[in-house]
Amino acid sequence: MIILGIDTSCDDTCAALIEDGHRLLSNVVNTQVIVHRRYGGVVPELASREHIRNIVPVVREALGKAGLNNKDIGAIAVTVGPGLVGALLVGIHFAKAYSYASNIPLVGVNHLEGHILSIFLEKGSPPFPFVALTVSGGHTNIYLVRGFGDYTVLGQTLDDAAGEAFDKIAKLLELGYPGGPLIEELSATGRPEAIDFPRAYLSKDSLDFSFSGLKTAVALYVKKWRDHKAGDNKIKIADIAASFQAAVIDILIDKVIAATAQVGVKSVVLAGGVARNNHLRRKLQEMMTSEGIDLYVSSPEFCTDNGAMIAVAGYHRIIKGQRSDLTLDARSRFPLDQI
Ligand code: KG4
Ligand code: ZN
Repeated sequence: MIILGIDTSCDDTCAALIEDGHRLLSNVVNTQVIVHRRYGGVVPELASREHIRNIVPVVREALGKAGLNNKDIGAIAVTVGPGLVGALLVGIHFAKAYSYASNIPLVGVNHLEGHILSIFLEKGSPPFPFVALTVSGGHTNIYLVRGFGDYTVLGQTLDDAAGEAFDKIAKLLELGYPGGPLIEELSATGRPEAIDFPRAYLSKDSLDFSFSGLKTAVALYVKKWRDHKAGDNKIKIADIAASFQAAVIDILIDKVIAATAQVGVKSVVLAGGVARNNHLRRKLQEMMTSEGIDLYVSSPEFCTDNGAMIAVAGYHRIIKGQRSDLTLDARSRFPLDQI
């Protein structure tokens, strides 16, 4: 069965076609980075406007690349949340209209479920149960995944998401947007041990995250550093970036290892935009190998937002007989265990 997956939850207009829940036929992502860059972050109204402009051409391109037309599509899967409501509504209304006009079944999908299941687009897929760490611009969560559609939240961020922290520190350092890749690039020439930024572990055994203290510590450090820059300062901006990145990565890795121990699971999936970070991928792999845990990481194109992961999640809902009707609506907040 061929599923069209659509995601317009943030600043990428995404459409993809996949077959039987894993085989990629096409994947089109129209990024709006150029539009939002000058504001240093995503401007919701502009995102909605760009989605309206892009959605039809993006879906057409996905169909064209796969060499398919309406009649080939078995179902349409669309992200209903969490995300920016105005942005989500563009994808949802498009999907509803398309479903109604072409008589194609429709199913609403949780964006976070999409991120977790993006791993099934890869060759080696994980056995259930596994622990999933989803780290993106909007979310930082640890789940226990027992099967398709069976998710338990083990931990989540109490304030900023990891990607959001990367974006905010990049803004503070005047690097640009989005911050994650820019911090990673700059860190390559910096010393991760140069500054010992705080790592917030919260209470003993807690699998929750908090990045606001780290963000404040970096901001205070940068202010002092700028004031003394003219003096004898051995710390370079790359050292600050590398030390910040190291702190985030340490917290993510320690929490995910603690999660596997708590639930007695030997497979971990890493997903979401921040999973593109090579230092995180490398260090997590090292730690997992030494802990005897199998790590599964999506290829970079499926870490950041895409329609293929939404199609995978939609496929597993459709084969269970789930359908959405034309009352389908956007959900800005949509915890994965409340589906
Ligand atoms: O999953 P995603 O495309 O969108 C959300 O659902 O949020 O993730 C985007 C986030 C941004 O915060 C971006 O800075 C971060 O992923 N990101 C990275 C890297 N590439 C993207 N963070 C750290 N290192 C990277 N290489
Ligand atoms: Zn995302």
